[in-house]
Amino acid sequence: MIQKINTLEEYHEVYRKSVEQPENFWAEIAATFKWQKKWDRVLEWNFRDPDIKWFAGGRLNITENCLDRHLETKGDQVAILWEPNHPGGEAIQLTYNQLHTEVCRLSNALKSQGIAKGDRVCLYMPMVPELAIAVLACARIGAIHSVVFAGFSSRALADRINDADASMVLTADGAYRGPKTIDLKSIVDEALTDCPGVLNVWVLKRTGSAVDMVAGRDTWWHDALEGVPAIYAAETMDAEDNLFVLYTSGSTGKPKGVMHTTGGYMVYAEYSFRNVFQYNEGDIYWCTADIGWITGHTYIVYGPLLAGATTLMFEGIPTYPDAGRFWEVTDKHQVNLFYTAPTAIRALQAKSPDFVARHNLSSLKVLGSVGEPINEEAWEWYHEQIGKKKCPIVDTWWQTETGGIMISPLAGITPLKPGFATLPLPGIQPMLVDHDGNEMKGNGVEGNLCIRFPWPSMIRSTWGDHERCRKTYFETFDNAYFTGDGCRRDAEGYYRITGRVDDVINVSGHRFGTAEIENAINEHPQVVESAVVGYPHEIKGQGIYAYVICTGLPADQQEVRAGIRATVNAFIGPIAKPDKVQFVKGLPKTRSGKIMRRVLRKIAEGGSSELGDVSTLLDPEVVEEIKEGAV
Ligand code: WT7
Repeated sequence: MIQKINTLEEYHEVYRKSVEQPENFWAEIAATFKWQKKWDRVLEWNFRDPDIKWFAGGRLNITENCLDRHLETKGDQVAILWEPNHPGGEAIQLTYNQLHTEVCRLSNALKSQGIAKGDRVCLYMPMVPELAIAVLACARIGAIHSVVFAGFSSRALADRINDADASMVLTADGAYRGPKTIDLKSIVDEALTDCPGVLNVWVLKRTGSAVDMVAGRDTWWHDALEGVPAIYAAETMDAEDNLFVLYTSGSTGKPKGVMHTTGGYMVYAEYSFRNVFQYNEGDIYWCTADIGWITGHTYIVYGPLLAGATTLMFEGIPTYPDAGRFWEVTDKHQVNLFYTAPTAIRALQAKSPDFVARHNLSSLKVLGSVGEPINEEAWEWYHEQIGKKKCPIVDTWWQTETGGIMISPLAGITPLKPGFATLPLPGIQPMLVDHDGNEMKGNGVEGNLCIRFPWPSMIRSTWGDHERCRKTYFETFDNAYFTGDGCRRDAEGYYRITGRVDDVINVSGHRFGTAEIENAINEHPQVVESAVVGYPHEIKGQGIYAYVICTGLPADQQEVRAGIRATVNAFIGPIAKPDKVQFVKGLPKTRSGKIMRRVLRKIAEGGSSELGDVSTLLDPEVVEEIKEGAV
């Protein structure tokens, strides 16, 4: 079993070892897992290509580590504790034995459908136990899962299915989201009119919504599982075989499929889970993310199950039936470790304190935050009102590409500082770099956050386009992985993430490239050109501000604005709809035709008096007009 770090001194000692002897350090941790064959080499790497291999030659299956190896000692312990959307609904408990059986059954069913090692299976599902089972079944047969968040539109789904060339989609008739029902199957049907590669669709019955089943393509989940055996010998995977692809946005228009492989991801998922949350045997752990995001992959499914924990999966939303739901569920299931996003904290903080006061919350030991910088007010509220000043808050910084938590306090060990992700985990070597690529050594500096040495769960490639991976992450700064984030290292050596330094905005913890939203806006028939920037938003962290040029100033601005929002909804999904749309006659461009986003950002922030140098603009008058029309 992985040994946890217990004291701050030990952290420093372990950290030193992890930097001085990274291979020994990770080999010792990797040795605690079940391998079908031990690795030949711990690490081979270069950041030029990039080419990164952890535990090369090792053979394993991650689900044997999530499931089989626990059966003897904790087969009857609850693995997944599922809380439904409707508060009156019955919670479901799946023990490790039961989860193992369900995963084996689905593995057999997928296999007999013809899904083989390396095939891509797209999961577009509600937050129900079957989603976790499907993730694990894919991993068990060696298929590459591509989970698409069920809030994405049919167009976004089709793009992801086609990019990964998935041959199968797992979905449900519908999903509950608070008081609403979303007809997932009809969204899939629409997407598939554009996806010739998809041969099979399995449909889980969840909401009972009416669905059209396409003959020869669609099968009910329960029919597919009928009579299948409950044992499946896990496929043998190479440590560097692909485990999953997960799409995320960057500064260019098209989302990219971040690739994670098997061995290294597994080792880092459990190591980081145990240490950051200081998980103890028997703890009830709840991460409120959706499995459609990396947080759900690593810290709802893989990390906790690898550690043999009880992981709570919640189908609903924080404000249904009211803003006390998180706290009601916490008491109901006596949650000990709770992990959520600043946007949820801010949304709940804005509601009446009664929603918190009527719950006890005494089971809580550790609170976590992820996805965006947590502002001080939200941190204090979380600490005082939810943690009653006795629970450490782990502000965990990481990314889809990093696979696991990179910079974070270890709960109860690292002294906290609100707004700071504090210190790197063992094995993580952050480096701040200035615009010219020079390393900024010492403390009290601010620059671009890079990582100078490989860690086991790092991105290996971007699906179908390795060059894109190289360009995005390994080209900007020599011999380093570039995160896209700005960061300050204070006098004490503590890290504070200052936000993205590229054209990526973070809306309620969700990442969007400005170009991606612009592309969607430009699909509106009356739009000629657009520019999107982020602006500070009380609840969402960043809101989406769109400057739009139309074919003539629209007669009914209200209507066109609604039309633009609907277009973005159709191309990406509701979470990407612009909060503000300003119609403009022109955009501030340099002589070389580049939009000066700095100026647009300032205006969107409401700071139009300090626009800085605009002398390189082609037409400085445009700026005056935009300032006057700011919304
Ligand atoms: C971006 C990654 C894996 C986490 C879920 C989002 C921002 C994430 C923090 C934090 C400040 C944070 C960064 C990062 N971010 N966590 N604790 N403090 N910023 O994953 O969608 O891949 O987004 O989220 O900007 O680059 P993601």
